[in-house]
Amino acid sequence: MTGTTGRVAMVTGASSGIGAATARVLTERGMRVVVNYLSSSDAAEAVVADIEAAGGRAMAVQADVREMAAVQHMVERVRAAWGGVDVLVHNALIPYAVKSFQDMTWEELGGKLDAEMRAAFAVTKAVLPTMTEQSWGRIIYLGTGLSRRPRAGMIALGASKAALEQFARYLAQELGPLGVTVNVVAPGPVESRIADDVLDDATKQRQVTATPLGRLAHPADVAHAVAFYADEDNAFMTGTTAAVNGGMAMY
Ligand SMILES: NC(=O)c1ccc[n+]([C@@H]2O[C@H](COP(=O)([O-])OP(=O)(O)OC[C@H]3O[C@@H](n4cnc5c(N)ncnc54)[C@H](OP(=O)(O)O)[C@@H]3O)[C@@H](O)[C@H]2O)c1
Repeated sequence: MTGTTGRVAMVTGASSGIGAATARVLTERGMRVVVNYLSSSDAAEAVVADIEAAGGRAMAVQADVREMAAVQHMVERVRAAWGGVDVLVHNALIPYAVKSFQDMTWEELGGKLDAEMRAAFAVTKAVLPTMTEQSWGRIIYLGTGLSRRPRAGMIALGASKAALEQFARYLAQELGPLGVTVNVVAPGPVESRIADDVLDDATKQRQVTATPLGRLAHPADVAHAVAFYADEDNAFMTGTTAAVNGGMAMY
C-alpha cells in the first residue's frame, strides 16, 4: 500500500480504454474510484466488478460531463457515499469530427471546443470545494500529443486539447497556493477503440516504426503516468505535461 490509500478518485469516461485502465491502477494503489460513464452501464459495471474481484473499491456513476447539473449530482452522490473527491482524472472522450479544416464547419470545430472546455470546467468546479477545504487535491487531465504536433484531420481534437492544456497551466498557477496540483498526461496513439476507428493499419504501422520503444501505447502505460501524478508523495509537480508516447516525439 502507498500514501494514497483511502483517497477517493473520480475518473471520467472510465467504462473503457485509458479511463478503465486508470481506474484499475488507482485502486491497486489503494484508492476508492468512481467509474464515470455516459451510456455504457454494462461496461462500467464490468470495470467495477473487476476491481472488486481484485480486492479494490469502486462505484459506477452515470453522468454526461458536458452537463453541469449532472456532474454536480454525481459529485454529491460521491460525497454522500465516500466524503468527497480528492483526485480528479478528467479523461472522458468527447466525440469530434476527423476532417480537414477546409471540409470542417464552424459547428464541428466550435462544438468540440465548447464541449471540451465545458466538460473540463464542470468537473473541475464540482470537485474544487472539497479540495480547497482540505488544502489537498490532485487534478489530472488527459491531453494528446496532437495538441503540439498536428496530424491531418485532427484539428478539432488538437486545438481543443491545446486549450485544455493551457487551462490546466492557469489552474496550476491559481490553485497551487491552495494545495492542489494540476497536470496533464498527453498520450501518443494508444491501442484502443478510438485508435481502431481513426487509424488505418498502414498509419498504425508507420507510427510504430517512428516510435523508439517499438509499439503503440497500451492504456495501462497511460494509467501509470496518471497514477504517478495522483500519488500522495508527488507533491511538487504542477503545471506540467507528461508525454506517454514511447519516444515518438521528444520535447
Ligand atoms: N486512444 C488514444 O489513442 C488517445 C491518444 C491521445 C489521447 N487520448 C485521450 O485519452 C482519453 C481517453 O481516450 P480513450 O481512447 O481511452 O477513450 P474511449 O476508450 O473511447 O473511452 C471514452 C470514455 O469516455 C466516456 N464518455 C464519452 N463522452 C462522455 C460524456 N459526455 N460524459 C461522460 N463520459 C463520456 C465513454 O463513456 P461511454 O462508454 O458510456 O460512452 C468512455 O468511458 C481522451 O481524453 C482522449 O482524447 C486518447
